[in-house]
Amino acid sequence: MLNIAVFVSGGGTNLQALIDAQKSGIIKNGKIGLVVSSKEGVFALERAKNANIPYVVCPRKDFSDNESYSNELLKILEENNIGVVVLAGFMTVLKGEILKKYKNKIINVHPALIPSFCGDGFYGLKVHEKALEYGVKITGATVHFVNDVTDGGAIILQKSVEIENDDTPEILQKRVMEQAEWKILPLAVELFCAGKIEISGNKTIIKR
Ligand code: GAR
Repeated sequence: MLNIAVFVSGGGTNLQALIDAQKSGIIKNGKIGLVVSSKEGVFALERAKNANIPYVVCPRKDFSDNESYSNELLKILEENNIGVVVLAGFMTVLKGEILKKYKNKIINVHPALIPSFCGDGFYGLKVHEKALEYGVKITGATVHFVNDVTDGGAIILQKSVEIENDDTPEILQKRVMEQAEWKILPLAVELFCAGKIEISGNKTIIKR
């Protein structure tokens, strides 16, 4: 049973999808042992409390740069024997040692079909604003491993979502979450915990 840490920064709907997947048995080879938030007072923490999951707040604002912040997160992971990290709406780009020690053990969900609308500056609602601005007809979500290139690690799962005429960034964000993120993130986490993801260079092979 792998010990899972979930990193959050906001509402935590993806965390909720993971909690629900654990309850329903979709995630069965891992257990969420810790939630780490980069901000105080976010609703994701209420979700952790309600599910009786231990949590810590490690505020990004207390650190001068992403690397010193990432080093503190690494300490927390090692102290808690964490085997896999899930970034679920986590708004800091991880840097330095943590990426080496947890190579191919950090999983992120991104609200677009990588390599579109990704990289530095593409996060949260902004991703959907850019997709609508460009006029694409299909977007979606991607679950991938984290490496030192923002949104550049090996892709695990993707799911497409159609854009509709009257979409606003908020409406589109909700559809992408409901139809894609909340489904493929728990599936990818279970695939990882069950040892079913083979990594070859920057590609994955899923053993179903
Ligand atoms: C989600 O759409 C997630 O994909 C996105 O932020 C939202 C967080 O929602 N993450 C990124 O943009 C990271 N690059 P949540 O807090 O309700 O899960």
